[in-house]
Amino acid sequence: MQIGKLKLKNPLILAPMAGITNLPFRLLAKEYGCGLVFSEMVSSHGLVHHFKHNNRYLMSHPAEKPLAVQLFGADPDILAAGAIIAAENGADLIDINMGCPVKKVVRSGAGSALMREPRLVERILKKVRRAVNVPLTVKIRAGWDTAQINALEIARIAEGCGVDAISIHGRTRTQGFTGAADWQLIRKLKETVSCTVIGNGDVKTPLDAGRMLSQTGCDGVMIGRAARGNPWIFDQTGRYLASGHCPPAPGLAERKSVIIRHFELFGRYYGFEPALLHIRKHLIWYTQSLPGSANFRRLMHTLQSKPRFFQMLDEYWKLLARF
Ligand SMILES: Cc1cc2nc3c(=O)[nH]c(=O)nc-3n(C[C@H](O)[C@H](O)[C@H](O)COP(=O)(O)O)c2cc1C
Repeated sequence: MQIGKLKLKNPLILAPMAGITNLPFRLLAKEYGCGLVFSEMVSSHGLVHHFKHNNRYLMSHPAEKPLAVQLFGADPDILAAGAIIAAENGADLIDINMGCPVKKVVRSGAGSALMREPRLVERILKKVRRAVNVPLTVKIRAGWDTAQINALEIARIAEGCGVDAISIHGRTRTQGFTGAADWQLIRKLKETVSCTVIGNGDVKTPLDAGRMLSQTGCDGVMIGRAARGNPWIFDQTGRYLASGHCPPAPGLAERKSVIIRHFELFGRYYGFEPALLHIRKHLIWYTQSLPGSANFRRLMHTLQSKPRFFQMLDEYWKLLARF
């Protein structure tokens, strides 16, 4: 799969997720064969005006490359300046967020609010396109609400501005995460533009990824929520697409080592104190289908130190071995 001059080893893409797709999580997704990882969304204003407080969002490692950095904002000049900073700091691809439904973001005119401003979209993308040489992509939703489904219009504008790929989450802003993603719309979008199209929304299993590719004709599949606590989904999906057979999920020993690696990576890049807090959230996903996990997670909320983390994990895993 190709996005501009970037050649990806496969069409499987980790979706940008605020609070989730930081460097440690991206490294895990990559280790499990993900073709392209996206950063969390990064404020263009923050990068341009408060670089020292925001440059951690640009932290990267050669092992995760290529890296797509997603920017949000509503000001064409600031977005272009932010894109230059991101590219100078190692972004291999710049993506503009036009899908975020969060009130604070939308109130500032950014994220999915841009879906209602086609002229501004054009100004933004022209400016950013001129500012950087790395591939440029946009991530859009179906539209603002069911009365304003305009993904195809925005996609045509984006293509006209020279974007290299369009990712579409087939839900409207007002839908948030409710209802189902409209895969028909993804298919229509693929038929409308000639640039690369990345389908997104409700890919929960490797089989879903195969279905999305065949039903919509999209070039790449972007996986978000289903990757949480489940970074091996990229490996399973890659194998499924290659062979038609879906390999089983990793066993207990591998899951434990992934949790430990996630914790260690987070500690290495952001410190072990924040890692103790951060890993709790991921443990919810890593353990959600395991017996007795509710109790384990309750105990994890009292987590105070690194040795205690390892002790509690060991105790729970011993318990699991008995099931
Ligand atoms: C916790 C969380 C954070 C997200 N943050 C972002 C973000 O920063 N930028 C973005 O474009 N989409 C963001 N999304 C949306 C996802 O990228 C994706 O479009 C959405 O989850 C649908 O895909 P899925 O069904 O595979 O999860 C976020 C989603 C979740 C659940």
